[in-house]
Amino acid sequence: MCAAYSLQMRSACNAESGEHMCGIIGYVGARKVLPILLGGLERLEYRGYDSAGVCVLQNGKIVWEKSPLSMTSGEKVKHFASTLNAKKFDGTTGIGHTRWATHGEPNRTNAHPHFSSDGKFALIHNGIIENYQELKKWLKKRGFRFRTDTDTEVLIHLIHKLYRGDLAKAVAGAMKRVEGSYAIGVISTHEPGRIVAARLMSPLIIGLGKGENFIASDSPAIIKFTRKVHYLEDGDFASLTADKISITRQGGKRVRRKTHTLTYDIAEAEKGGYPHFMLKEIYQQPEAIADTLAGRIKKNFAGVTFGRLGITDAWLKKCKKVVFVACGTAYHAGCVGRYFLRDVIGLDAQVEFASEFRYFPPELDKNSLVVAVSQSGETIDTLVAVREAKKLGAKVLAVCNVQASTITRESDATIYTHAGPEIGVASTKAYATQLAAIYLLGISLGELKGKIKPAARKRWLRELSEIPRLAQRTLEKTKLIKQCAQKYRDCTTFLYLGRGYNFATAYEGALKLKEISYIHAEGYGAGEMKHGPIALVQWTYPTMAVAPRGKMYPKMVSNIEEIKARNGIVLCVASENDRAIKALVDHVLPIPEVSEELSPLLAVIPLQLFAYHVAVVRGCSVDQPRNLAKSVTVE
Ligand code: F6R
Repeated sequence: MCAAYSLQMRSACNAESGEHMCGIIGYVGARKVLPILLGGLERLEYRGYDSAGVCVLQNGKIVWEKSPLSMTSGEKVKHFASTLNAKKFDGTTGIGHTRWATHGEPNRTNAHPHFSSDGKFALIHNGIIENYQELKKWLKKRGFRFRTDTDTEVLIHLIHKLYRGDLAKAVAGAMKRVEGSYAIGVISTHEPGRIVAARLMSPLIIGLGKGENFIASDSPAIIKFTRKVHYLEDGDFASLTADKISITRQGGKRVRRKTHTLTYDIAEAEKGGYPHFMLKEIYQQPEAIADTLAGRIKKNFAGVTFGRLGITDAWLKKCKKVVFVACGTAYHAGCVGRYFLRDVIGLDAQVEFASEFRYFPPELDKNSLVVAVSQSGETIDTLVAVREAKKLGAKVLAVCNVQASTITRESDATIYTHAGPEIGVASTKAYATQLAAIYLLGISLGELKGKIKPAARKRWLRELSEIPRLAQRTLEKTKLIKQCAQKYRDCTTFLYLGRGYNFATAYEGALKLKEISYIHAEGYGAGEMKHGPIALVQWTYPTMAVAPRGKMYPKMVSNIEEIKARNGIVLCVASENDRAIKALVDHVLPIPEVSEELSPLLAVIPLQLFAYHVAVVRGCSVDQPRNLAKSVTVE
């Protein structure tokens, strides 16, 4: 499965197997397909990178190659591509896959595509087949032999078994028997020049070309060739030839799906001169925040507009409770949102982990607004929480980066963050833009409810519109961060402390450090430190404190003093020109003066850069940290 990011451990799971976050691509047309597949897989590498494979239909045969990918090489698919004998592949229809497995060794056998025993059918899959064991038993009894440890293999045997001269019908028949999630692409020597695809709970798009068509998990894989796409809905089947696309539902009923035009720049999907996507994305933050704000702040700071939101102002005015729901970094954005709504507009606001929400939902009713925050719009826990919230009668507003993603389609309304594609597995610009969108939402709600007076609204909006410039200034003061990264590169553990609005910043900073540098880091509320973690403090356990000026500043200073009194080392994100902090701590990471409420937008930047530089000096794979993928489309 694919599309957002994950902390799933590849080897940890034994209850289920599957390809949870993978990238799939397929092409049918007149060009040689191999370079198209390999180029697409390179752009989909962020969805999974433990193994890859391609197969091509030619001369009545399926020619294929697959391989585990090197976990140490930075250019995984590229390296795989360089090992292929391109002359072997001259067909013009094919499918390719890059895998991220939670179970089952990432070896050549388990890599996709998977094949029928007669070699006439091939399939790529992103998802989990939950009833695969039952199906496997059933197929084995009927003489099918299994070669891999994957759940996916049942699909290709089922399709083979059900084939009666129509690949689309065989695929539909197979998927009828399947429980779980899937985005698949299937080809067969019986029907050269055709790809059949299907989707349920895993992203899949169709790219529309002239005399050629594509399937892909995500648009960067095909944008080089076409900007016109259909987003398949759950339960859709698609049959593609070079000249025709037909989309049907189970039972064969034809449906039409809207044609969307991809608007982002092709260069945005590339590194643009930076050594890593993550660094590029950190540096894109001023622009990305400006894009989130663009067109939404009325002239003279006269208010906020989201255009036609899909939830009316009248409803928002009456809304009594807001619950943010999200995972990982997006959850941290929700934490900031919760405080902003409580503190600035006095609204009943809370934040929930999406993975818990489904099992322990908060009290919701028709006056509740659930704000689902997600970069990818495909995170399964968040999606399931959206469904649960709707069942409970709440309205759902998505704050999302990916156009027409599943969460946006299932929500009542969406505020797009307009951050552009985020390729680095560690989320950076998506976080900043989620915060910006949440502040806009808060200001708008506050005004609708009469909780923010015009003068305050003007002040907030003016300050928010200054953030891109201030973020740029923050980025210019990074020399010291690199030095700190060098100095602390060999630490084995770090404590991140913050309070109030920057409680979440501390958590986010710790998450960034651990996910890309593999240094253990613990985010903690600074006020809670004396209730336990202070026992750990000594010179080998450095603290990263987040203490810009504001209401919580004196409290943070006291907490820092407690650490210094115990010989702890303190690095501190603080307001520039704060001499008192400078005298107290070991290193200051300065940010421009800004109101405490909006300070998370700036305070996170030095922490992103610190994590980045530590990871670089430690020789870590920054954009593709081990065991992670960009999308977590499995529970
Ligand atoms: C961390 C990170 C993740 C994601 C999380 C949710 O750097 O990127 O924690 O924030 O997996 O993903 P989305 O926002 O796509 O729902």
